[in-house]
Amino acid sequence: MAAFWLILFLTTQFCILITVSLPQQPGSQHVFLGGQSILQRFTFEGPEALDDILDAAEQNDLDVWQVTNAHVDVLFTPTSRPLSLPKLLSKGTAIPPAIYSVPTDDTQRPIEEWNIRSFQNTTFHGQYHPLYEIDGFMEDLAALHPDLVKLVNIGHSAEGREMFAISISKPTELGEQKRKGKEGEKSTGKPGFVVTGAQHAREWVATAAALYIAHSLVANGSEPESMSSLLDHFDFHIIPTPNPDGYVYTWEKDRFWYKNRMIVSPEEQCQGLDMNRNWGYHWSPSAPFNPTDLLKKNKKKKPKIPPADPCSVWYPGRRPFEAPEVNNIANFITQTPRLVVFVDLRSYGQMLSTPYSYSCNVLPADAEDQLEAALGVAHAIKKKHGTSFTTGSLCSMLYSAPGNIVDWMYGEAHIKYSFAAHLRDTGTYGYALPPEWIRPVGEETGTMIEYLARFVAKNGRTGL
Ligand SMILES: *[C@@H]1O[C@H](CO)[C@@H](O)[C@H](O)[C@H]1NC(C)=O
Ligand SMILES: *[C@@H]1O[C@H](CO)[C@@H](O)[C@H](O)[C@H]1NC(C)=O
Repeated sequence: MAAFWLILFLTTQFCILITVSLPQQPGSQHVFLGGQSILQRFTFEGPEALDDILDAAEQNDLDVWQVTNAHVDVLFTPTSRPLSLPKLLSKGTAIPPAIYSVPTDDTQRPIEEWNIRSFQNTTFHGQYHPLYEIDGFMEDLAALHPDLVKLVNIGHSAEGREMFAISISKPTELGEQKRKGKEGEKSTGKPGFVVTGAQHAREWVATAAALYIAHSLVANGSEPESMSSLLDHFDFHIIPTPNPDGYVYTWEKDRFWYKNRMIVSPEEQCQGLDMNRNWGYHWSPSAPFNPTDLLKKNKKKKPKIPPADPCSVWYPGRRPFEAPEVNNIANFITQTPRLVVFVDLRSYGQMLSTPYSYSCNVLPADAEDQLEAALGVAHAIKKKHGTSFTTGSLCSMLYSAPGNIVDWMYGEAHIKYSFAAHLRDTGTYGYALPPEWIRPVGEETGTMIEYLARFVAKNGRTGL
């Protein structure tokens, strides 16, 4: 019962990871961060119990990492822990945690040649990268493959950083003709596939997987895991860092920062809004989180609609598209023709989810096709590395949340095959997924992209 396994391993860069897992809770080990913070899972029954857990977390200023219809993951920092752990423990069932530490110091980073000419041999996908390295990688990729890759500046972030989409397309003779035609240089005439990385700054593996996908698409077809053959059928548009300010903040100040970094109002002390609640399809100014929607409506208790507190991590803003980053991406999407697939990469939870997020009671007209595609992906990923993905509407997988990117891409931009993909893991490391996992996660994500491309090419009556 009290048997601990101690696994000690050194990452190549800068940290020591110590994992203590408790065998009596198979599959539910959690982690201490920095040897001090704890990620802990609470299971609950009924919306009231969930309300209580979230209230307690909020009152104690704890970081809620994940909420589903079955559990809540809460991060206890060194200062919050002694005070609030006993309080929360009385609310839910805590799963015993494990230990591990987060890399924080990147001053020792070697300046390295990534060797990105070879997708197989590059060291780039063996670690996470600060924004300047990501921008450098994209520039190098464009310089190495000028025939395929175009970096598109899509606007500026709240703090004035340039935002990029990486457009990858292979010219065809037909495409060349169209290129000279009405659509200018923007298109080869093929249908478009859009992939976004981490809107939530701390979901690093989503950005890493987006970069991996971009690289796999330009990799010589003779290299293992190359996906270059997809360029015969699709143009790809990848936005690895939709939230550059937040991403930089996770490197420099707070590894688990979530929102963007905009000043939400001159009087407010809190910065940033939740980009993934700021999209203009069924956007809502209140109810940044409405846990009673999670499960069946409780008749006895009125649904509690929390006010839109700008200090909440789920703050949706005062109006849709208030975040310049969201607005930039929306403009880019609107100006890009023939988009047929969209995948929003996220972490964590191993789920591939379909619209909608805003409501569990409304089904998209294309729900059947979307779910069929998602189930096929889950099956293909299982075959790849044995990793299990669950599928369903985003609302049913998590909770009802308006203003989501997937709802907008489907409902407003009319991209029929729109999905949210929560990558590894299921909560052992959560957002702090070890860098050794980037490649396997990238490969699974590649399987996902490839399956969706083939599914749409086969089933699509969308101009293919
Ligand atoms: C990658 O490294 C292996 C082993 O050194 C080598 O055989 C292979 O040619 C390299 N691949 C590329 C594309 O450089
Ligand atoms: C791809 O690799 C093959 C075999 O290594 C090589 O002959 C070919 O020139 C490469 N193609 C490109 C476009 O680099």
